[in-house]
Amino acid sequence: MNIQAVFWRLLALLPLLLFTMAAPAQEANIEEGKTLFRNYCASCHNKNMKDDLTGPALGGVEERWADYPPEDLYRWIRNSQAMINEGHPRAVEMREE
Ligand code: HEC
Repeated sequence: MNIQAVFWRLLALLPLLLFTMAAPAQEANIEEGKTLFRNYCASCHNKNMKDDLTGPALGGVEERWADYPPEDLYRWIRNSQAMINEGHPRAVEMREE
């Protein structure tokens, strides 16, 4: 095998390599997210994402916020009161539900 063939083979393997290196990091994030959810959200939002508790079921929430930039949803999670006060359309809509 000449050096060029080796190079192309390595290049072909690159996506696989990147994928396997990225996987553990992603898994850690999922675990972290689960813990955060349990600690800060599960008291009001059902972890099955389907049934309402004190708070509404969170399944499909990204679609309900699809008309707004993702930052709005992040901001809502951090400080919903501020957005209610500002009269953000999604916040107002939820008040009426
Ligand atoms: C004390 C109870 C409570 C806790 C804790 C809580 N929420 Fe909520 N959440 C609510 C209620 C009630 C609503 C409905 C809107 C309203 O009445 O303010 C809501 C609404 C939401 C919405 C909007 C749903 C939609 O359909 O647009 C999201 C997203 C959300 N919560 C995420 C979270 C996340 C993430 C956490 C944890 C970091 C969390 N909430 C913690 C009570 C809570």
